[in-house]
Amino acid sequence: MKKISLLIYFISFYNFAQHTASPTGLTASKAMVVSARAEASKIGVEIMKKGGNAFDAMAATELALAVAYPYAGNLGGGGFMVYRKANGEVGSLDYREKAPLAATKNMFLDKDGNVIPGKSTETPLAIGVPGTIAGVFAVHKKFGSLPISEILKPVIALAEKGVVVTLKQQKQLENYHDAIVKANGPTTLMAGKFKEGDTIKYPALASTLKRILKGGKDEFYKGKTAQVLVDYLKKKGGIITLKDLASYEAKWRNPLQFDYKDLKITSMAPPSSGGICLAQILKMISPFYLSKMGHNSEQSIQVIVEAERRAYADRSQFLGDPDFVKIPIKGLLSDSYLKERMSNFDSEKASLSSEIKEGKITYNESTETTHYSIVDQFGNAVSATTTINDGFGSKYYCDELGFFLNNEMDDFSAKPGSPNMFGLVGNEANSIAPQKRMLSSMTPTIVEKNGKLFMVVGSPGGSTIITSVLQTILNVYEYNLSMQAAVNAPRFHHQWLPDLITFEPNTFNYNTIESLKAKGYLINEKTTPVIGKVDAILVLPDNTLEGGADFRGDDKAAGF
Ligand code: DON
Repeated sequence: MKKISLLIYFISFYNFAQHTASPTGLTASKAMVVSARAEASKIGVEIMKKGGNAFDAMAATELALAVAYPYAGNLGGGGFMVYRKANGEVGSLDYREKAPLAATKNMFLDKDGNVIPGKSTETPLAIGVPGTIAGVFAVHKKFGSLPISEILKPVIALAEKGVVVTLKQQKQLENYHDAIVKANGPTTLMAGKFKEGDTIKYPALASTLKRILKGGKDEFYKGKTAQVLVDYLKKKGGIITLKDLASYEAKWRNPLQFDYKDLKITSMAPPSSGGICLAQILKMISPFYLSKMGHNSEQSIQVIVEAERRAYADRSQFLGDPDFVKIPIKGLLSDSYLKERMSNFDSEKASLSSEIKEGKITYNESTETTHYSIVDQFGNAVSATTTINDGFGSKYYCDELGFFLNNEMDDFSAKPGSPNMFGLVGNEANSIAPQKRMLSSMTPTIVEKNGKLFMVVGSPGGSTIITSVLQTILNVYEYNLSMQAAVNAPRFHHQWLPDLITFEPNTFNYNTIESLKAKGYLINEKTTPVIGKVDAILVLPDNTLEGGADFRGDDKAAGF
């Protein structure tokens, strides 16, 4: 057994076979959007039907999610967008939130240097300077083809007409009701006891969007909206100032590109850890014959978990905002380093993450972010993940403006080695500083095969984003699943600390889990109901698009 594994380790298998799985998700011949809500996917698709491109559709979908999916869609948060144009040119935009000017390194610690529970998640100090509107306008300015008014009109109409509450949304609102009331008082719109089938109208958000239609990005960062927002935050005890807003800029960054066998993968570079971790994991597993080992088999899980463990350990040590810290990207991705990193892998025995104390993790199905994937009729692709961090962010909802504010400050490392809400630990590289961006796990990704667009993919899920994206790519490429089946397939996760494999419940073979335990793997007995919520698009060999919309949410593909 050991000999076979070693043999497999030293042989690099390339998967040149064509993808042969028949589609099981929605198919379309020209263009597609897959997002967390049918309303947002539809608005994105309508924009492309009018002749708009994937970038116009990005602006429309991002803002439509802010209306239809206030749980994670946002004006009060930020995100990352990776694109690949029809001519093969790739790029990425960082519209991640920033720490306010008045932020300080130890702002979440008490006088003894201990992390104050909840301060980085549930107080106005949790809020980072929002980047979403800057992001939308940067994309539109550089690549948009339709006037911004045409893009915003259907979004404003949706806010005015209202959005029907789904059962999942009813549950989200119920779960967070008390926290929302605590932050805003009982009269806030989002404290309403909405039930499935009710329609929520968003008139204040519609007015904000109308002002943005007229005044552009400056309305949000320097205009009335900025003033109302700063006044609201000040009243609550927040520290974001007009200067913070006025100086916010989204940033075009070189994406991270790397090969996995015959795939070329483009993903987000720091300040997201997504691209680097994904690259490290894929490079570490590439010498193994995963397709032969079998989907979600004991052997496959072992190889993937060991690579994940090592990549997340590096994440915690080295990664942060590249505008503030030097990240040894070349070293982290070098073949020799990664080969060395996996050299102590033993197929008979688990490695242990042990020396450092285990992080306290609270896996929670209700934490949210949202990802959408777009391909247009011209062959351009957009992969974007946007967030306010937790479900409904910090829960602070400015009723006058109609949106929630993020609690992204929790993505910083408040204290070296202390876990954040995702159980992630960090270090100096991700410590708090004014105007610094907090490290993210968001992994908007685009995959090419033989020089052609192959897949657009991404997910919410905090620390599990990277491993969800990873498994989706492997499910299609190594295990030949259709796009929808790849999204549906049960997921598992390991992030170095805590040293646990977490599985989605009741979906993995009992014997597989028992064998892993016997080899020393520590299994999280508390399964997590949902790992990731992937929305992806696959380009089939005949160029048909297949959507993979995650059943774990209300996600929907739309196309033509
Ligand atoms: O940027 C990050 O990595 C986190 N703020 C993402 C949060 C998230 O995905 C929550 N959703 N499940």
